Amino acid sequence: MTAETKIPTGTDLRAEIDRLRKSRNAVILAHYYQKPEIQDIADYVGDSLQLSQLAADTDADVIAFCGVKFMADTAKILSPQKIVVLPDMDAGCSLEDSCPPDKFRAFREAHPDHIALTYINCSTEVKALSDVIVTSSSAETILQQIPKSQKIIFGPDRHLGGYLNRKFDRDMLLWPGVCIVHEAFSETELLKLKEQYPGAPIAAHPECPAQIVAHADYVGSTSGILQFAKSFPGDTLIVATEPHIIHQMEKALPEKNFIGAPGADGNCNCNICPYMALNTMEKLYTAVRDLEPRIEIEEGLRLKAKQSLDKMLEMASGTVGKGDLGRA
Ligand code: 13P
Ligand code: SF4
Repeated sequence: MTAETKIPTGTDLRAEIDRLRKSRNAVILAHYYQKPEIQDIADYVGDSLQLSQLAADTDADVIAFCGVKFMADTAKILSPQKIVVLPDMDAGCSLEDSCPPDKFRAFREAHPDHIALTYINCSTEVKALSDVIVTSSSAETILQQIPKSQKIIFGPDRHLGGYLNRKFDRDMLLWPGVCIVHEAFSETELLKLKEQYPGAPIAAHPECPAQIVAHADYVGSTSGILQFAKSFPGDTLIVATEPHIIHQMEKALPEKNFIGAPGADGNCNCNICPYMALNTMEKLYTAVRDLEPRIEIEEGLRLKAKQSLDKMLEMASGTVGKGDLGRA
């Protein structure tokens, strides 16, 4: 029986989720790539760093995490005493899938003089094998604190790693993973769109390939892109990241025009994250009602993974507040 079929007909999902979150002392955290209705019911909407910080600091008993599994795992690693539920346990990530822990361990062992600076989009096991975790909003700040003489492995996103190498003149060894969503943007179609809207700037996530980033007027995390959207002087912005973030832009600036960058087929449907899309209002409702599916992590593994995450929170402390952290 699926979660949806266990819901009595006529249930007012919004009202029930609201009632349950109060009675269970639950906080609903949502990533910017979630469906608009989930963003709108969440207590907080944020990027990966902000959601990690909230998970570490909240005094709620339950965290209902509307994002993907590595994000909910991060919440559990940082707040083990809390119940953490993820509406759909199959909400994975192509970057996490690209980096199996045994292969990552072998890669590390082949480069004993390198430290591992690792993107948060990876499994708990890979976090446990890493020295410092970064998110797209903290990577630049953290990398600049590491001396240039230090050899570094960066995984699993080769596009984010390549962007950092180019920007800071580093030569980090890159794991060959990609985000299937950002990989799908088409340079040819982007240039056609640019011709249609000649004055419109392009804001791109650093998970985009180099040929997309090369055309961007702003490159940054989801919260950074949102900040840029709130401050650019024109009336049209081309957004090269998962298009659900446009919901926050349209709410904040209804008079402006936000256009999702196109994929190879000329529309941006292929840029909707299929993993994020697995979470629905129905599944969120049954998750806060049944407190399932629940994230569980073996304690020894959790403690190892926590070290690299704590290092990130410590080294990124200056980054807090730069984004758009706030109630939905
Ligand atoms: P940020 O929200 O940290 O920019 O991450 C983007 C992303 O792809 C999350 O999966
Ligand atoms: Fe992973 Fe890309 Fe989806 Fe983010 S958008 S969860 S990086 S597949």
